[in-house]
Amino acid sequence: MAYETILAEKRGEVGLITLNRPKAMNALNAELAQELLDAVQKFDGDNNIGAIVITGSEKAFAAGVDIKEMQSLEYVDVLMNDFISVWDRFAASRKPVIAAVAGYALGGGCELAMMCDFIIAGESAKFGQPEITLGVMPGIGGTQRLARAIGKAKTMEMCLTGRHMTAAEAESSGLVARVVPDHDVVEEAMSVAERIATFSRPSVIMTKDAVNRAFETTLAEGLRYERSVFYSMFALEDQKEGMAAFAEKRSPNFKNR
Ligand code: HXC
Repeated sequence: MAYETILAEKRGEVGLITLNRPKAMNALNAELAQELLDAVQKFDGDNNIGAIVITGSEKAFAAGVDIKEMQSLEYVDVLMNDFISVWDRFAASRKPVIAAVAGYALGGGCELAMMCDFIIAGESAKFGQPEITLGVMPGIGGTQRLARAIGKAKTMEMCLTGRHMTAAEAESSGLVARVVPDHDVVEEAMSVAERIATFSRPSVIMTKDAVNRAFETTLAEGLRYERSVFYSMFALEDQKEGMAAFAEKRSPNFKNR
């Protein structure tokens, strides 16, 4: 797939997307947002792809939405173009999306990482919501997803001061799943994605959907939802195959993957 601001390639059953605006610290301009959405939607709709990895460079995952592109926008522009809605479509991907973050993940870059299903960080990763220093605030979910990930105290502090969080603090706070040496971050995310891609695609999609429900609803509703999705899994051939394979002491051969 040929793009100007990202690289997108299939590696086996994993779609790998690399943000590629090195001169601008991978700042998220409108073109990049559209290209990223296009690549994610193509991978999401490709039956041969089981998971997606998004990464940046060693210096920057992404240093935010492109400030130079944004600075002259007026209220009517952002309102009428629904400036941020492109990211809703990105976040609607049904297949797992893993962020492999090294360097800066700031502003919209941190928000992009949080829109992914989980983050694997390199030791150099720095997370932050510095929008307050620009006279604005996070707008692609930063105030909401960060609060759900790390709680009120640290979210308030980060959003109100703009301070950066190290990879180690991000791991201990629950923002990232795992920290690995910088040079291993893509390889590690790829290997996790490859493992996910070995499983039944419907089971994976349903599991992601059920976990996400936890952030949308009450415990009682979430448990009801989980149960009904779980029951529906017994209609999958892959449930029969997975359990038969266990009983027969062999590897499963999932039909839907
Ligand atoms: C546009 C950016 C950019 C950004 C960096 N650059 N971040 N351009 N938008 N968000 C550009 C710089 O202007 C510079 O271009 C080049 O990338 C290298 O950056 P430097 O600042 O020279 O590098 P360094 O000194 O190493 O500092 C790195 C940095 C700093 C700490 C990441 O660039 C920085 O603070 N960036 C802005 C971070 C930020 O405020 N993000 C939030 C954006 S608002 P030139 O041409 O000078 O070489 C946001 C809002 C989302 O995301 C809300 C919803 C829309």
